[in-house]
Amino acid sequence: MPETRRNHKPSPASGARHVVLGVTGSIGAYKAADLVRRLRERDCIVTCVMTHEACEFITPLTLQVLSERRVVTDLFNREETGIVHTTLADEASVVLIAPATAQVIAKLAHGLADDPITCIALATRAPILLAPAMNVHMLDHPATQENLSTLRQRGCRTIGPQHGSLACGYDAVGHLSEVEEIVEATFGALAGSGSGRQATRRHGRS
Ligand SMILES: Cc1cc2nc3c(=O)[nH]c(=O)nc-3n(C[C@H](O)[C@H](O)[C@H](O)COP(=O)(O)O)c2cc1C
Repeated sequence: MPETRRNHKPSPASGARHVVLGVTGSIGAYKAADLVRRLRERDCIVTCVMTHEACEFITPLTLQVLSERRVVTDLFNREETGIVHTTLADEASVVLIAPATAQVIAKLAHGLADDPITCIALATRAPILLAPAMNVHMLDHPATQENLSTLRQRGCRTIGPQHGSLACGYDAVGHLSEVEEIVEATFGALAGSGSGRQATRRHGRS
């Protein structure tokens, strides 16, 4: 009988990269499942953080099973003793938001923090990579273009979107980049960063 073995599990102790993957309410959210799988194949620890709208497109359970980690969907969690978003912000080697909606891009550009993803993005010192996906006119809108430009000026990296067949019926730019390209860009962001943990905590917790 062939030998069956559990997959190798990377751990923070083994120096594995910790990708905090923000998933937002785009039709491209289903690709987050493949993204988790590919990142784990490259020995990353992946913690998924979803907006409520993202949960309309893909279930937290899918990402929980694929990542083998709890999925964060709420800022307020009475079962946790620590502060989840600041802990993840500190632990992240990179914060990847894929897909990134026009809405989350706008919030990030304006420093809004009313969901777990935007709170983590504000609190982290790790590199941030955005993979926008949206309707071509949402993307072309000056508000979205200015928001993206502001974020790039602040050091956020972006990948895509690419040209493709959009769910809204257009054949245009707005499609989420290919999963493999996002994985490569994530490793590019990791290579171009330090440890990401620059602030010193006074206590064990912030
Ligand atoms: C079927 C459907 C598909 C959508 N796809 C996108 C999309 O690809 N990109 C986007 O920016 N918004 C998209 N939206 C709109 C967002 O879901 C909406 O702006 C939402 O408030 C985003 O929330 P979030 O950024 O907190 O996840 C879509 C909405 C629907 C109903």
